[in-house]
Amino acid sequence: MKLKNKILEILENNQGDYISGEEIASLLGVSRNSIWKTINYLKREGYDISSARDGYMIPTDADIFSSNRIAILSQNNIDVMMIDEATSSNDIAKSLAFQGAREGTLVVVKRQNSGRGRMGRSFISNEENGLYMSLVLRPEVPISQSVLITVIGAVAALEAIEMTSGIECSIKWVNDIYIGEKKVCGILSEASFNFEQSYTDYVIIGIGVNVTPPKNGFDEQIKNIATSIFERSSPSGYKSLLCSKIVDRFLHYYNNLEDKSFIDIYRRKSNLIGKSVNVYRGNDIFAGTVIDIDQDANLVLQTDSGLLSFNSGEARVRKNEFEQ
Ligand code: BTN
Repeated sequence: MKLKNKILEILENNQGDYISGEEIASLLGVSRNSIWKTINYLKREGYDISSARDGYMIPTDADIFSSNRIAILSQNNIDVMMIDEATSSNDIAKSLAFQGAREGTLVVVKRQNSGRGRMGRSFISNEENGLYMSLVLRPEVPISQSVLITVIGAVAALEAIEMTSGIECSIKWVNDIYIGEKKVCGILSEASFNFEQSYTDYVIIGIGVNVTPPKNGFDEQIKNIATSIFERSSPSGYKSLLCSKIVDRFLHYYNNLEDKSFIDIYRRKSNLIGKSVNVYRGNDIFAGTVIDIDQDANLVLQTDSGLLSFNSGEARVRKNEFEQ
């Protein structure tokens, strides 16, 4: 761990209390001068650190978004890595998984300069207004069951947003989270399969939540379909709390995958049941009415030619019967 992160960890663990430069230096086995220099660097970087005769302190109301805080708030034993900027947290998580990172490794990126969405789309996340996180998993279930992991992601994100903000959300199949009519969170799961030996090497579940709007508002092309949890600012420490809750809700369902208790919530929170939709799969479009989400999270569609069930694809609500 870098010196700056070690110092932050000590200050965060003592939030609200002064701790002297001498004590920090002796805890870390470095000189007082290097503590002083690093703290000045952290202040220039925008960290809220007060200095006084008694030493250094992070004020009680400071907005702490850090790997240490997320790990402390989580009830699970997770390894958290936080990076200021990267292409995408999924990219970092994938390369860690490839190098052997254990299940429960979490990557959080403050700004993504190439955030990715489903269906090859991009996910705008180049400002620090959202939470962008990717969890490494090594599921020991048949490949067919891996699909449920993305469903768990949706239920976990929904519950965490509702618990931490008090705002009611819904799920648009497969795994978009909505507040009212607009999307607040998207999920991109990526997996590496070993087909020869028929097992899943790893799954990365990447979750992006708009916590507040970008500085200049949402881009023209998404402003009618995207929203954020808060309209202006979020409460102090909110992103760390949200992140730890998402991980905890996720691991709760993931560790009990067989009992499928999340499917009932997934169905109850669906905003598509009863709606006329088009389901897009590759070059095919299927029109019908959503009548259910079944026990395997398939979308069940009543079409003119009978019942169809989909395990993937994209559903769009039709404004009128003639819409393609
Ligand atoms: C979608 O809505 O199409 C899915 C969006 C997924 C965005 C998250 S943000 C964290 C992770 N890193 C990425 O590049 N994508 C996912």
